[in-house]
Amino acid sequence: MFFNLDKKKCGLTPVAMEVWEGWVFINLQPNPEVSLREFLGPFGEAFSGVVYPYPENAIVMRGEFNANWKAGADAFSEAYHLSSIHPRTVAPIYAGKENPYSRLVGAVVYGAHRMIATWLNREYQPGPNSKVERWVYPAVATITGTNQEGQKTPLTAHPAINPSKSDAWASDVNWIFPNWHIQISANRFWSHEFWPTSVNTTVWEGRFYQPAPRTARTHSTGMVHRADGRWHARRSFEH
Ligand SMILES: [Fe+2]
Repeated sequence: MFFNLDKKKCGLTPVAMEVWEGWVFINLQPNPEVSLREFLGPFGEAFSGVVYPYPENAIVMRGEFNANWKAGADAFSEAYHLSSIHPRTVAPIYAGKENPYSRLVGAVVYGAHRMIATWLNREYQPGPNSKVERWVYPAVATITGTNQEGQKTPLTAHPAINPSKSDAWASDVNWIFPNWHIQISANRFWSHEFWPTSVNTTVWEGRFYQPAPRTARTHSTGMVHRADGRWHARRSFEH
C-alpha cells in the first residue's frame, strides 16, 4: 500500500519529439535550441519525398566493439578501404579493373550532414565456390539490393539519391550528424547507429529493411548476412 502518493510526480520524463519523413527524433533538451527542421537544414529539404521500401520489416544487427565510435562511423562512410581490408568478400563488388580503389561517384555536403555515392562493379559475378551467394544473387534481393542495369525505381528517380545519376552506382551513405547513417540503394535502405559507451567502446546497431520472406531464396538473403548470431526482426519504423 502506498499512502500520500503524488501520482503527478510519478509519470514518465517528458522529452521533446519531432517527426521528419516518418522518422521519429527525440531531443533530451526540454526546449530544444533548434527545431528538427532547422537541425536537418538543407539535408531535410533535399531528402523530402523519399519513399522508403519495406519500412515495417527490419533485420536488426547489434554489436559492441572496442574502438572509438568515430572509427566505426568513418569506416562506413568511405569506400577506399574496401580493396585492402575486404579483398575476398565485398571488394570485388565495389572495386574492379575500371576503379581499383572504389573512387566515389558523388559526394554532397549539406551543412552539418553529408552524403557519398559509391561505385558498383557491374562486371561482378559470385565465384564458382560461393554457392549460397550464387543462388541468391540473381534474386535482386541481396541485403543491399544493388542497382541492376537500367533499373528505374522511385529511389533511383529521386534527385538527392545518386545525385550524379551515375550508371555505375551501388548505394549512397547519408550521414546525419552526429552518429546516424541512412544508406540507400536502388531498391533498399538500411541504417547504422554508432553509440559511444566510453572513449574506446561503441555499440553499433544496423537495421536492414527487407521484404518479408515469402520463399526459401528470399529468406536466405537475411540468413547469409547474419553476422553475430544476434539478429532479429523488428516490425517498427523508428529511430
Ligand atoms: Fe569495411
